[in-house]
Amino acid sequence: MSGVGARRAEVVAHANIALSKYWGKRAGAGNLPAVPSLSVTLAGLSTRTAVTFDEGLARDELTLGGEAAHGLPLTRASALLDVVRRAAGFTARARVISRNDFPTASGLASSASGFAALALAAVRAAGLPWDDARISDLARRSSASAARSLFGGFVELPAGPVDGGEETFLPARPVAPPSHLDLAVLVCVTTEGSKAVGSTAGMIETARRSPFYDAWLTEAPRLHGMLREALAAGDLPRVGELAESSALAMHAVAFAGGTTYVGASTLEILARLRALRSDGLPMWATMDAGPHVKVLVPAARVEESRRALAEVPGVLRIVEARPGPGAWVVES
Ligand code: PMV
Repeated sequence: MSGVGARRAEVVAHANIALSKYWGKRAGAGNLPAVPSLSVTLAGLSTRTAVTFDEGLARDELTLGGEAAHGLPLTRASALLDVVRRAAGFTARARVISRNDFPTASGLASSASGFAALALAAVRAAGLPWDDARISDLARRSSASAARSLFGGFVELPAGPVDGGEETFLPARPVAPPSHLDLAVLVCVTTEGSKAVGSTAGMIETARRSPFYDAWLTEAPRLHGMLREALAAGDLPRVGELAESSALAMHAVAFAGGTTYVGASTLEILARLRALRSDGLPMWATMDAGPHVKVLVPAARVEESRRALAEVPGVLRIVEARPGPGAWVVES
């Protein structure tokens, strides 16, 4: 490793929301998605992470939002740091300090921005000359959605090869800049609690128990391909419709396998959204591994959309977000 100056890096990465959903993993090692996904990286909702490799440390240390983390979050961070240490040829443990600037219970997955930030900070702190694609591939091994947060705007993560494994190189890639669609995302928060079933457990259950899993494996790439085309054409209504279809299909396949993320408020919002839409307000819904509804609206209609959604019973608060940049180094 080069001098002391190369041992610390501090970075910022933003959350992203999948328009076509990743749900399901390839069998075997490597955390390879079974279906392609396409997301939008969101400005403002960010994780700031500092990594310092320090020979004086006996073990890795992780602080999340001011509190020392142990157990699974620390194990997952250490697994990523181990890959970086092996590549850089040193054994120093790391101190990782990470903080989200959005409320952790806002319903926006912190694992995407969290692992994107950790991967970039660890690689830069170790002084490795890796490009964004290589760092995206590293982040993907911890959380596939994190691979997409390395890049700004609209970002695609292909499905992994059927016969892939630990050795497979699979980064996300940017497909359009943040300004490509005049889009705003209104995150309707329906509960302040954390989700009951994590995404990995939900995906495993879906593959094991859902009678519709094979149908999902056929339908998800089809929706994804159409969404890509609609995005390339700059057709926001079509992107919105397809994003909603992808989310509904993902939740249906999970539901049929016994994993339920939607709650009563989720359904309330969906019903109201459809009524508002038929009254002429363009808006489309998407949900991830939790009950919150992320509503896609044209940026020009954001105020009236926000007012209408705020009245729906079960909406606790609304977080507004716009397409934004990829992960960046603050200090190294
Ligand atoms: O990257 P993970 O393991 O947190 O899974 C993300 C799954 C969804 O958020 C539901 C969909 C997606 O593509 O982000």
